[in-house]
Amino acid sequence: MVVNDKVAVVTGGASGIGEATAKQYCEHGASVVVGDVDEEGGEEAVASIVADGGEATFVPTDVAEEADVKRLIETAVDTYGGLDVVFNNAGTEGALAEFAEYDSADFDRVVAVNLRGAFYGMKYGIQAMLADGGGSIVNTSSVASVTGIMGRAGYSASKAGINGMTRAAAMEYATDEIRVNAILPGIVNTSMQDRVAVQRPDSTDRYEISEAMPGRATPEELANAVLFLGSDLSSRITGVTLPVEGGFLIQP
Ligand SMILES: NC(=O)c1ccc[n+]([C@@H]2O[C@H](COP(=O)([O-])OP(=O)(O)OC[C@H]3O[C@@H](n4cnc5c(N)ncnc54)[C@H](O)[C@@H]3O)[C@@H](O)[C@H]2O)c1
Repeated sequence: MVVNDKVAVVTGGASGIGEATAKQYCEHGASVVVGDVDEEGGEEAVASIVADGGEATFVPTDVAEEADVKRLIETAVDTYGGLDVVFNNAGTEGALAEFAEYDSADFDRVVAVNLRGAFYGMKYGIQAMLADGGGSIVNTSSVASVTGIMGRAGYSASKAGINGMTRAAAMEYATDEIRVNAILPGIVNTSMQDRVAVQRPDSTDRYEISEAMPGRATPEELANAVLFLGSDLSSRITGVTLPVEGGFLIQP
């Protein structure tokens, strides 16, 4: 029960890494508020947590909309009496195209969801934490933030931006007992990877060898890292961009 009695907000909690994280937080004693644009998936994720005896609430949220994220954070504070953890995880891969053909509107949308959405979660999450004695922010970045990946201009920009925001906010709030960290997933078995496999059928074979460890990560393996970073077990860790990628980044 490493996050017992903590209150956590998880964006993108209807599916994949976010859903696995919301479940693990509840299993470890936290109350969780899930925000997602997928209302059906979000309601289902929360119903499954509640059926297992956990405490969770769903708030329909488009993280690209500032008012939505503000309401999400306010719901957590109003419903559970405070805020300890915000996991800014909602994300989209966008279309697949190289720079010369990359659609500018798609670039804006990917950055609005992945980067501006995380900024809103940090802004309102930090406001609530300043009023409540501190907390932990965890952002979902990607190995794409530090390596070159092809066909994903908006995604690469947004994930590198998350690393910068993570370090800047960690500096700003280090004396306020607010820690800010990010995880860098590699290849994780989620619906995002299913969509990538449709966009780029050759990706499956390539991805199987991109991590030094065999196979792919499960969403639960990523959730373990988010659980650690949100808990007091990581009390001295801030400003870190933590690879959780089976050795993707150590390969030549
Ligand atoms: N799967 C991977 O291999 C991988 C690798 C690196 C990073 N990531 C990152 O992990 C995060 C989670 O992705 P996942 O793999 O679990 O994929 P996923 O598609 O299973 O989950 C993403 C969730 O985000 C939600 N979402 C999308 N746009 C949203 C918006 N505007 N507002 C609110 N919610 C929104 C979706 O509805 C979905 O529930 C993303 O930030 C992604 O970029 C994934």
